[in-house]
Amino acid sequence: MFRDDSQNEIRLRTLVETVVDGVILIDSQGIVFMFNPACERLFGYRAEEVIGQNVKILMPTPFHEEHDQYLRNYREGGERKIIGIGREVVGRRKDGSTFPMDLSVGEAKQAGQTIFVGIIHDLTERKHSERVLLETASRLQAVVETAVDGVILIDARGRVQMFNPACERLFGYSSEEVIGQNVKLLMPSPFHEEHDQYLANYRETGERKIIGIGREVVGRRKNGTTFPMDLSVGEARQEGEPIFVGIIHDLTERKRTSEQLVQAQKMETVGQLSGGIAHDFNNLLTVIIGNSDILSEKLKARPDLKQYCDGVINAGMRGAELTRRLLAFSRRQELQPTVINCNQLVEGMRVLLQRTLREDIDIRIVLRQQLMMAYADAAQLESAILNLSLNAQDAMPLGGTLTLITENALLDERYQDGHPEVTPGGYVSINVTDDGTGMTAEVKARVFEPFFTTKDVGKGSGLGLSMVYGFIKQSNGHVAIYSEPGLGTTVRLYLPAAKNLREPVLDHTGGGPELEPRGAETVLVIEDDSFVRGYAVGTLESLGYRVIVASDGREGLDKLGQYGNQIDVLFSDIVMPGGLGGWELAERAQELQPGVRILLTSGYPLETMTANFRPNIKSAILHKPYRKSDLALRIREILDQK
Ligand SMILES: Nc1ncnc2c1ncn2[C@@H]1O[C@H](COP(=O)(O)OP(=O)(O)OP(=O)(O)O)[C@@H](O)[C@H]1O
Ligand SMILES: [Mg+2]
Repeated sequence: MFRDDSQNEIRLRTLVETVVDGVILIDSQGIVFMFNPACERLFGYRAEEVIGQNVKILMPTPFHEEHDQYLRNYREGGERKIIGIGREVVGRRKDGSTFPMDLSVGEAKQAGQTIFVGIIHDLTERKHSERVLLETASRLQAVVETAVDGVILIDARGRVQMFNPACERLFGYSSEEVIGQNVKLLMPSPFHEEHDQYLANYRETGERKIIGIGREVVGRRKNGTTFPMDLSVGEARQEGEPIFVGIIHDLTERKRTSEQLVQAQKMETVGQLSGGIAHDFNNLLTVIIGNSDILSEKLKARPDLKQYCDGVINAGMRGAELTRRLLAFSRRQELQPTVINCNQLVEGMRVLLQRTLREDIDIRIVLRQQLMMAYADAAQLESAILNLSLNAQDAMPLGGTLTLITENALLDERYQDGHPEVTPGGYVSINVTDDGTGMTAEVKARVFEPFFTTKDVGKGSGLGLSMVYGFIKQSNGHVAIYSEPGLGTTVRLYLPAAKNLREPVLDHTGGGPELEPRGAETVLVIEDDSFVRGYAVGTLESLGYRVIVASDGREGLDKLGQYGNQIDVLFSDIVMPGGLGGWELAERAQELQPGVRILLTSGYPLETMTANFRPNIKSAILHKPYRKSDLALRIREILDQK
């Protein structure tokens, strides 16, 4: 290798002294006779400390025995284990610490004696970075394996390289089925066809459509169904080739929730609209019914004419019923919720249902033991159940079974996911089931809309379920419909449970006396609608009262000042133009004339109650539309109060 021996010697020495790797020479007994500076740095020994020692001092104790054995085997049988081959072993430093090293051993003869040359390469650094890499990789692995979102890796040709468990759940494929396949497998038409074009385009022009940006796309499951998903794609390089990482977030739930929200908002808007109409309608009906009532009375002697008048009254009453339902739908009816035992209530309806429904309808009632108490308006609940039962009957033209079931129900956060408007908690549910025609999805989606009906003109107003909906919502409950065409329908009413409350006695008052009480006191009538005002005045006068009239709050106040304590009772509309409403007027009247009685009236029961209610005012409220008998009764009641 070198031309001149002395030169050779110097060069070799320089090499050994400066080389980065450790160089060590031992004899066949394992005694060290050379230890270069790199070895000194590696092991922390100075050369003098090691030379003449057995090389074992550079090995951790557990390997000492092995080393002796090894040298012996070699001497006796010539068996080589590491000679000529490098291998990874553990070195021991002077301070007792150990480190990983790569050891390659060569064998040479020197003066007839075998010597061994060891080259030692420190592996500490490499080991460390290997471990870091490994840790990073396993951490990444864990992230990908446990991620809730789908993670998918595809190569530049669109072949799937990785498919995490979340993807398996989302798409219904196992990773083995997908890996190696083209990612198109997971896309429905037409994306399926477009995808190749897209990748090719990207390869040629570098034009990016979705890379780096998330977007909403449609995924296709193994069973062929599709679902909305948010896909964000990142690009990386693996051995010079681009690879794509897709993160897939399932949007099914979110979509459903937002659809539900839109639906709820729509109902809200329609409710406001119809509530407004119902309010104005009440005024008109008050006039129609009231005047007809008076006329009918005057026509007692002319039954031939009276029947027409009674026809008007009946139609008016039907109209009033309609507006009442609309008000119920728009959640503006006045409710009187009490703690109710729904088992009792449902059982109590059995006879009514038997009488009301056709004979070919079997009625089954299944009551849950230990049912929680519900908090709702009992009369309205009965009317809701009756409505549902009538719908059930209509859906079973050839007869069938109507089943009423009571249950305790817990609506939790999970349930809330699909129904963001529901407050989680304990509910009492009343299920009304029929085995009738059922509904298509299109019908089901619209049943709560007011005036939506599939029934013939004159058969259905389309307000039954609207009313149920409004009532239940106003009661802080929830309605759900399960229906399949041909299989039947279940409507489930959820009413908030009133836990820890004792069962009170159900209060069933209703129906007023037939005789209209009369009087001779003075009534101040304040009403802005001239028709209603005319009706009220006529009615009161026909009952014997003396009437003073005002057409708004200001005028009412003037009349109060003018007539002072001649006025016994103030009968005022609540909502009036001109800035002075019924409540304020009542307040001023009580100041001016402390003993005055007050009767307020409104076609907008709940809103006027909640928005303006003055607890300090002692008053009664009469809801529009009211009949002569209602007015007569309430006026008398108020006047007779102590
Ligand atoms: N149990 C049921 N089975 C099948 N379809 C039903 C059922 N209940 C309601 N529907 C459908 O929903 C529509 C709306 O019902 P809803 O009670 O609001 O109005 P209606 O019964 O048509 O009229 P109304 O109740 O005002 O007399 C019905 O026309 C019918 O198509
Ligand atoms: Mg109905």
